[in-house]
Amino acid sequence: MNKKDVIAETEKMIKEKLNGEGSGHDWWHVLRVWKLAKRIGEEEKADTFIVQMGALLHDVADWKSNDGDLEAGGRVSREWLLEVGVDKDTTEVIVDIVNNVSFKGAGVEDKMKSIEGKAVQDADRLDAMGAMGVGRVFTYGGHKGRAMYDPEETARPAGDFEAYKAAGQTSINHFYEKLLLLKDRMNTETGRKLAEGRHKFMEEFLNEFYAEWNGEK
Ligand code: NI
Repeated sequence: MNKKDVIAETEKMIKEKLNGEGSGHDWWHVLRVWKLAKRIGEEEKADTFIVQMGALLHDVADWKSNDGDLEAGGRVSREWLLEVGVDKDTTEVIVDIVNNVSFKGAGVEDKMKSIEGKAVQDADRLDAMGAMGVGRVFTYGGHKGRAMYDPEETARPAGDFEAYKAAGQTSINHFYEKLLLLKDRMNTETGRKLAEGRHKFMEEFLNEFYAEWNGEK
């Protein structure tokens, strides 16, 4: 199979797998990450085949929906890549991307090695920022049955991975525990530039949210 066909087949497989996923990691998320990662990859002179495959597979078996199994995505990806005829070395680079893409808390260092992985990770994080971030955080909160906001509850930036998984009782809290931290976690120059605008938009959204909450606007 040539690279174009491999990408097309992977698109088809992922689309079927994620169809109807309700927590915000649905096919449309993958499609947005795919487009953005490709753009960042091109600007950063990365291998765009690896970038695209990493983006398509990055949520194939996310730890949030796999009982905390961190390697599930990598395993599923490796099987798939070898099945569609991707060579072993390229497969391992893509598997490494899938295994390391997730945000695991404020104090947990990123382990992404390849520039291709850095492009995918930036794109994935950018999709949790800006208008997409605002939309997704409330979709996810609704999925989990969480309140939008509770003024009694203060945000706790989660220091380690266990605390991160346990935290986040309201959607507004999630901004402080994750979304507002992402701008300083960009890997690439292109990602940093894009993150600036999206970060600013979220700050504006929060100001508006509190003003309306308090009847000031
Ligand atoms: Ni994702």
